Amino acid sequence: MILIIDFGSQTTHLIGRRIQEEGVKTKIVLPDEALKSIEELQPNGIILSGGPSSVYSIDGLLIDKEVFKKNIPILGICYGLQLMAQLLGGKVDPGTKKEYGPAFVQLSWTTAGKPANLFIGLPDEFKVWMSHFDEVVEPPHGFVVTGSTSTVKIAAFEDRKRKFYGIQFHPEVHHTEYGTEILRNFLKICDEETTVEKKLHKILNSRINKKSIEEITVKLKKEIGDKKAICALSGGIDSAVAAVLTYIAIEDNLTCFYVDTGLMRLGETEQIQKTFSVKVKLPLKIIYAEDEFLKVLKGVTDPEQKRKIIGELFIRVFEREAVKLNAPILIQGTIYPDVIESKGSKHAHTIKTHHNVGGIPSAHSFKIIEPLREYYKDEVREIARELNFPPEMIWRHVFPGPGLAVRIIGEVTKKKLDILRKADVIVVEEIKKAGLYEDIWMAFAVLVGIKSTGVGGDERKYGETIAIRAIQSKDTMTAEWVRLPYDLLAKISNRIVTEVFEVVRVVYDITTKPPATMEWE
Ligand code: XMP
Repeated sequence: MILIIDFGSQTTHLIGRRIQEEGVKTKIVLPDEALKSIEELQPNGIILSGGPSSVYSIDGLLIDKEVFKKNIPILGICYGLQLMAQLLGGKVDPGTKKEYGPAFVQLSWTTAGKPANLFIGLPDEFKVWMSHFDEVVEPPHGFVVTGSTSTVKIAAFEDRKRKFYGIQFHPEVHHTEYGTEILRNFLKICDEETTVEKKLHKILNSRINKKSIEEITVKLKKEIGDKKAICALSGGIDSAVAAVLTYIAIEDNLTCFYVDTGLMRLGETEQIQKTFSVKVKLPLKIIYAEDEFLKVLKGVTDPEQKRKIIGELFIRVFEREAVKLNAPILIQGTIYPDVIESKGSKHAHTIKTHHNVGGIPSAHSFKIIEPLREYYKDEVREIARELNFPPEMIWRHVFPGPGLAVRIIGEVTKKKLDILRKADVIVVEEIKKAGLYEDIWMAFAVLVGIKSTGVGGDERKYGETIAIRAIQSKDTMTAEWVRLPYDLLAKISNRIVTEVFEVVRVVYDITTKPPATMEWE
């Protein structure tokens, strides 16, 4: 098994998932539990995760140096590499340039032209995903540099003798090329080879199969017993899968609710009503609460406050309905990225309080059950496929719980929502017409809240700006912006400025995650 020490990275859990996909067990522990866990679990390898701190700052998270004396292979990722450098006698400095998103690593060959152990079978240069400011400027004694980028000289190093390896980039994220190969090479170094080879063909992607799905429903049945539960359906795949799994477990003791918050896209409520009465049959009740939501959002401009206010009202609306049904349990379709962005581990920073996790007030009357909390979006889609969901539901673009409120910068009003809805439907329609919808993670419009000068029919127009965002992702943790064809962008822009009177300018968001998140708020 591989022990993963969590320094608070957004992607620590994802490292675990990748290793498990290779048929190898993992355990994630906190830095101060490391030594004890090594004694207890006798891991074949250790991974030091990334994290938001600086190794040289007063509150930098360190680890007992004894960990390096246990004769166990160690891989340091991002902060893990910096920590290894700092503790073993190298030097880490604040970098002069930040590296966020894509970068190219050039490998340097080490002894007698042989590739570094971690990089066997890889090309000399490949694309990786970075997210750091600090950098290692001097490797510790015994280490050789095995890779660099145009920004950092020491993007990878190794001490082959002691089997210590460090990489500044993230092999666990989908956007790093050869990330899986690098982790596999590390497993081989850790003598997990036989296990990997034996299980690879069977267990690859084994987190989702008929057995694991059955395990989820059995666990749900046990947890809920003969009590009644309600499920908050958003129309997206996560909550729908959570609801169907619960329905399998407790049947008619489940009632599903969909709240029309007024923050929905054009025609969304009607579409959801149709989907759940025809395609995926579930007992569904629709609650119309637009006025209530717009009232509590009046005057609110701070994104985190918006998220919390929406999360709070959602819970109050559900409490109201649950009392009528005598249902003490609320099922939510929370997935792991929602958890980690809302500070899901001890040393992680809060990126945003996803309304279904951090946005929920601590005082409420429910027992909350989240059957998908350990899973990623692509895995939820895999479960949906196993449950025979219609393809259009599986591939429906993600829509955030707080809805269009987090796509309107500044105060949310009915007028702004209507402008955004009209622009958004054009973006989606044109992308569908171009046959690109299913290849894209999400495509949507944002009302950026900046007015600018335009001219229409020889008249001065001082109007709104719409940003188009189209992104590609697999597991939500990283994203690349989609190179939409210019002609398609031209068509979308032209339709928006002609069909949505209030808009005079359309811009295209060309930022990766990190440093940007997918939603603007
Ligand atoms: P960010 O903006 O954090 O988004 O990069 C990652 C993915 O999560 C979705 N998202 C949410 N989903 N509740 C949700 O259920 C939320 O509060 C929330 N905020 C963001 C977002 O649409 C993207 O797919």
